[in-house]
Amino acid sequence: MSAPGKPPVVAHTRLELEALLAERAGGGPVGLVPTMGALHEGHASLMRVARAEVEAGPVVVSIFVNPLQFGPDEDLDRYPRTLEMDLKVCEREGVDLVYAPDVEDVYPTWPEQPAVTIDPGPLADVLEGRVRPGHFRGVLTVVAKLLGLVRPDVAVFGQKDYQQLVLIRRMVADLCLPVRVVGAETEREPDGLALSSRNRFLNAEQRIEAAVLHRAIVAAQEAGTYGLEPALGAARAELRTATLVDLDYLTITTPDLAALPEASEAGTRARILLAARLGATRLIDNAPLVLGQTVPTGPTEGRL
Ligand code: PAF
Repeated sequence: MSAPGKPPVVAHTRLELEALLAERAGGGPVGLVPTMGALHEGHASLMRVARAEVEAGPVVVSIFVNPLQFGPDEDLDRYPRTLEMDLKVCEREGVDLVYAPDVEDVYPTWPEQPAVTIDPGPLADVLEGRVRPGHFRGVLTVVAKLLGLVRPDVAVFGQKDYQQLVLIRRMVADLCLPVRVVGAETEREPDGLALSSRNRFLNAEQRIEAAVLHRAIVAAQEAGTYGLEPALGAARAELRTATLVDLDYLTITTPDLAALPEASEAGTRARILLAARLGATRLIDNAPLVLGQTVPTGPTEGRL
């Protein structure tokens, strides 16, 4: 393990990565935290989860803005690239190795798209996939590549991108990939706003209103005691108090993102997910809830 305060070793190419991993072979289980950089406290918490999972084994962080998961109208060029600052976060968290490649290292034929990609299946066509066609194909393709390059024992992803987490688990199960996927709890600001690289694009007014997403989730969790429709109604009522928030979707599903039966049994475990635009910035959030009984409303759950 790299002592906190000691800079991580940085590999910019697959060859460097392979050589550095070979040097550490036998040094304990390997943990991987895939990121697109612009690291914040939410990413730091993923690194801490990885560290707890592998103890003295090496923690590897990848920093790569994956073009394949951006649509033609999305903010690929606007996506913040802050490698120097990101390396400081990795250093503080005692990360051993950072893989920070350029596009050609990951996609050798770029700008020609790879001929073979991962088909994420029908779950990629709903929720985020409905507004971001092709997004999850890009995510799963790059995650599969990173898993192949780093060959970690454990890979840590945030529950904040819940649909992504569910799809990655599905890929790992369906392709029999030898890695354990850990879903880490969402980190929040004191007013409940989920930490996200996109929060920096909110102006002061939008930033204040953005906390309504979490208030809507808490309202749904509380009203979940009375069932699905009351939970959705409570979340909608909370969202109506905001004037700058343009809701994309609000839904309650099973933890695997399947539709819930209209009348759920008391104690049914579910997930609430929502996405909204504040000006040009699109935010997402989600949390577990139980239909037909109360659940705590504070930090919602631990690792998945
Ligand atoms: O969650 C992210 O930051 C990205 O989707 C991921 C998993 C690093 C793949 O590019």
